[in-house]
Amino acid sequence: MGLKLNKNALSVLVFLAISVTAQCVTFDVSKLGGKPNSDITQVLAQAWQKACASPTSAKIVVPKSTYKVSRGNFLGPCKSPIEFQLDGILQAPSNPSGFKDGDGWITFQSINKLSVYGGGTFDGQGKASYGKHCTRLNYCSKLPINIRFNFVTNSAVKGITSLDSKQFHILVLGGENLSFKNVKVIAPEDSANTDGIHIGRSTNITITDSTIQTGDDCISVGDGTKKLTITKVTCGPGHGISVGSLGKYTNEAPVEGVTVSNCTFKNTQNGVRIKTWPDSHEGVASDLHFENLIMDNVGNPVLIDQEYCPWNQCKLQNPSRVKLSKVSFKNIKGTSSTPLAVKLVCSGGYPCKNVEVGGIDIKYNGKEGPIQSICKNVKPKVSGYMNPAACAH
Ligand SMILES: *[C@@H]1O[C@H](CO)[C@@H](O)[C@H](O)[C@H]1NC(C)=O
Ligand SMILES: *[C@@H]1O[C@H](CO)[C@@H](O)[C@H](O)[C@H]1NC(C)=O
Ligand SMILES: *[C@@H]1O[C@H](CO)[C@@H](O)[C@H](O)[C@H]1NC(C)=O
Repeated sequence: MGLKLNKNALSVLVFLAISVTAQCVTFDVSKLGGKPNSDITQVLAQAWQKACASPTSAKIVVPKSTYKVSRGNFLGPCKSPIEFQLDGILQAPSNPSGFKDGDGWITFQSINKLSVYGGGTFDGQGKASYGKHCTRLNYCSKLPINIRFNFVTNSAVKGITSLDSKQFHILVLGGENLSFKNVKVIAPEDSANTDGIHIGRSTNITITDSTIQTGDDCISVGDGTKKLTITKVTCGPGHGISVGSLGKYTNEAPVEGVTVSNCTFKNTQNGVRIKTWPDSHEGVASDLHFENLIMDNVGNPVLIDQEYCPWNQCKLQNPSRVKLSKVSFKNIKGTSSTPLAVKLVCSGGYPCKNVEVGGIDIKYNGKEGPIQSICKNVKPKVSGYMNPAACAH
């Protein structure tokens, strides 16, 4: 009997030990003094500090209510994997004063094994800012980015919504092994510079099963991006998925390995495009593949533009020095809202190499003449059906 009791006691101890190691310490902002519709900036900051210092996995929970946050700086490194479960709505201040160039409203930084998930919303409250703080040349850079992920690794973002960001919605810099799934981005079509997700200087990022409706690029890909996979994303309204612009700054790192597949574009200004500045700094972008895409009333569905020079900010006569190679556009179907459906304009200084097109079937039903395609400084390899015919201007 005595032996049996000891055995039981032992198994209880073992059970306890296991449940503690497997346990995730939870910090629920509503239990830490956060009241709905009040400002929980301090409560969140304290919850983060404790969670980040926890020797076992920790979780921050924002339950289903609306809370105001003036700014969230969630800095690592953390002692253990950390979760941020957002079921409610976090609201940014509608007044953008106090933010500097490049600031995030919410910033996750230097964290390994971060998981951000839930059905909640990061509400940037941008409506009052749209059209007020941007000029053509300053690009609203002082407005905050809704959510920044700086140097975040081996992490996942799932289910959340970014609403009405004042500037870019989501920006990833210096990330590795980071996935975005079932993410929603929503902002009005006329909101300036509200790119959905921007990736720069990052490796092995995936974006899947997401919906992005915004005023600027759906996804934009900056220099130093490697192994980016974008699949089953629906874009529109907005400006489409864009690699670049590249070549504007010195010392840009190469873009290598971008695949965009099984995506749908609805009423976007462009479909898939690569844009580089003329009169530019050196740069490289290679292994860029765009396949199985549906275009629904899209302007410029397939576009390489190495003469990207909005508002004459450059000398168009000097060619772009960004070298493009190994680029393919395959199995792209649907309708164009402009007659020039396939435009491959490469640099006169560095013609594009190894460009392949095929399986393109795009219709134009508008009144500005027949559907067209142009090629400049590129001789694409054509594989399979082409409408418009390749390089038929
Ligand atoms: C890419 O990142 C995912 C996590 O998003 C990870 O599971 C996978 O192993 C990584 N692949 C490589 C080749 O690093
Ligand atoms: C990314 O994932 C790969 C494969 O799992 C791993 O080898 C690599 O170390 C990870 N990168 C970082 C920065 O942890
Ligand atoms: C992408 O679309 C192609 C063609 O429609 C299909 O064969 C493939 O299974 C799809 N891939 C994914 C990951 O859904």
